[in-house]
Amino acid sequence: MRRISRETVQRILDAADIVDVVSDFVTLKRRGANYIGLCPFHNERTPSFSVSKSKGICKCFSCGKGGSPVNFLMELEQMNYNEALRYLAKKYNIEIEERELTDKERQEETERESMLAVNRFAMEHFERMLNDTADGRDIGLAYFRERGVNDAMLKRFRLGYALEANDDLFKAATSAGFSEQFLVATGLCNRNDRGRVYDRFRGRVIYPVLSISGNVVAFGGRTLRKDKEVAKYVNSPESVIYSKRRELYGLYQARQAIVKQNKCILVEGYMDVISMHQSGVENVVASSGTSLTEEQVRLIHRFTENITVIYDSDPAGIKASLRGIDMLLAEGMKVKVLSLPDGDDPDSFAQSHSSTQVEEYLSRNETDFIMFKTRILLKDVGDDPIARARVITDIVRSISVIPDSITRSVYISECSNTLGISDKVLTLQVKKFMDEAALKQRQQNTRTQNLEKLEDSVAPPVPDPELVKQLSGTPGMEDAGTSRDSGDAPSVNRDDARLLEKLEREVLRYVLKYGMLQLTEACDEEGNVWPLSVIEYVDEELRSDAIVFIHKAYSDAYSAALKIARATWGEDIAAHRRMLEVRKERSFREGLDAIRAEGGDVGALEAKEIALRERVESEYARGVDEYSANYIERQLVSSPDDSIRALATSLVSDRYVLSKVHTKYSHVETEQERLEELVPRAIYELKDGILECRIRRIRRDIAAAASDPSTPTETIRELMTRNMELDRLKAQFAKYLGDRIIAPRK
Ligand code: CTP
Ligand code: MN
Repeated sequence: MRRISRETVQRILDAADIVDVVSDFVTLKRRGANYIGLCPFHNERTPSFSVSKSKGICKCFSCGKGGSPVNFLMELEQMNYNEALRYLAKKYNIEIEERELTDKERQEETERESMLAVNRFAMEHFERMLNDTADGRDIGLAYFRERGVNDAMLKRFRLGYALEANDDLFKAATSAGFSEQFLVATGLCNRNDRGRVYDRFRGRVIYPVLSISGNVVAFGGRTLRKDKEVAKYVNSPESVIYSKRRELYGLYQARQAIVKQNKCILVEGYMDVISMHQSGVENVVASSGTSLTEEQVRLIHRFTENITVIYDSDPAGIKASLRGIDMLLAEGMKVKVLSLPDGDDPDSFAQSHSSTQVEEYLSRNETDFIMFKTRILLKDVGDDPIARARVITDIVRSISVIPDSITRSVYISECSNTLGISDKVLTLQVKKFMDEAALKQRQQNTRTQNLEKLEDSVAPPVPDPELVKQLSGTPGMEDAGTSRDSGDAPSVNRDDARLLEKLEREVLRYVLKYGMLQLTEACDEEGNVWPLSVIEYVDEELRSDAIVFIHKAYSDAYSAALKIARATWGEDIAAHRRMLEVRKERSFREGLDAIRAEGGDVGALEAKEIALRERVESEYARGVDEYSANYIERQLVSSPDDSIRALATSLVSDRYVLSKVHTKYSHVETEQERLEELVPRAIYELKDGILECRIRRIRRDIAAAASDPSTPTETIRELMTRNMELDRLKAQFAKYLGDRIIAPRK
């Protein structure tokens, strides 16, 4: 197994034309500079899916989905990143060059590959044992029959049987050439103290666990014995290829149905999934008996935001799992729950009802989660006011994790009815929880990790010592002087964070959109002059004042941009220049031929030739500029990193909406022409914002100190002095920002 070479990836991304790619799935009509069609991600009658050829992205203005060609394919066709690249390569007849792996990569890759290969062998072996041996048929197959599993499901879920023997699989696998090392690494076999190797799965029916891309990553083996002496299930251990928290049983088989129905049903066990499938409900996955993890929720969220959790009717079980569901809400999922009739689990229910009955039951009995939780919890409290208060707090906490404010307020008013408590009180409570959670979040996202990433930077910093003193550390980081408790505790409050969010986003937007364009020139003491690109300028400015973005998503995207600027830009621009060069020479030659054909005297010929030369040169320069301008953005909207790609796409489309308005005033100077003014302004506004946060904080400190009679006057005086210094700096900034600013550089 090898990797697609970076050059090939680049060639693919360059070739992929968004209009072209989308057109394979959506009928597009031209509308001004863009194309428009019916959104493939949701049902609609009037088109709100817009495609911008020049920006290379698409976006639905109604449901918000879309992105680069790669992103579009990943979302629509549930491909992974590599599959999307290979799809595009095929579409554009690009030959895939694979690069050799580094030694370390090769070793890991080989290990992974070998483990997957031996797992696949084992899966097929277990299938053979189930169908082609007497024991398999009499014991394993008989069991599945008894449980009502049909042939189609046996095949679809690749069910199997492990013979009641010590080393059946081990022998089969080693004689097929698989090495013991990987049999042990996958947990298919164990080696005991005496060095003997024996199989993990013996005398059990086998449920293989397939990853989303169809690899066999693990197995579950169920005993067929009724006695309690042996464990009911034996499962593969965690390994390089299997992390329990990242897999969902049945997702591979369910993914298309989940997308089609825009909903995922969550059940507990292997048989639940299989029986539901068999009854025609295919959008079902199982968390395999443990509570759902965040990773699993994200996995589902890639396909849909609607999830229905099915419970057994057992009340203790219900209560235990209520807690896990807050996480689904926090991920922005729309959660419904459904309980089955007494004594049923999804398996037995699906087995004892026709598929129409099952579907009908599902659609009739789904209940909104918050309402469900309210009902269940209130049932037990009776008139006990304390218990009642506890329940209310619990429900309010659930509401507070919902990211969408409209959904939140809908719940607040519904719960206010059910609970008989005023909207206002509930809203306040929700806000309190949200503040607490936000604070915790920030404590986790502090800057240490960001600083590490920025370590290896380009330009020498030019610090203004005073500024550094005032700004250094992200805003609100406690520093000596004001507070002596934990040096790490940030005290950016919600308003501060919101203010900085806007400013950081703007700086990042310039970096993505214009990063590689030349902004200005820099010079050193010896008078050497060199061009400074937008991203270099921004980086210098941020570093000189030791500023890092406090929003992790932004700082991640920014680091990715820096990395691209350093790692791949040089090679790519050189290749692009060569291409433009060839094109330039060709149009020059063709132009010359045309001029000569026209004829005329030598003077006229010469003048035409000069004009021609100028024209091709300026075309060349424009080509370089165009390529440079959105280079970073182009890379990031196709980044393999999901969150970076999403952020880049949203930054690009922010402006994309705006530009519709801008074109009306196209006589106005474009943003690109005004970069020399706009980029420094964005930076200075960010710095100004940081100062503002500092000032706000010191005022809070002063207020706190003043209201505490034990504070020494000395401390208050110190705080006041710092406050004045900050005010003075802020005034300077106001002046900068008021004047036409370009950073004064020496
Ligand atoms: N499970 C597991 N390991 C265990 C117990 C349970 O992996 N030791 C997982 C399995 O995925 C199982 C699910 O938890 O399917 C639910 O467990 P349980 O209700 O005990 O089993 P059922 O799926 O109901 O199995 P069956 O219907 O075959 O009895
Ligand atoms: Mn069961």
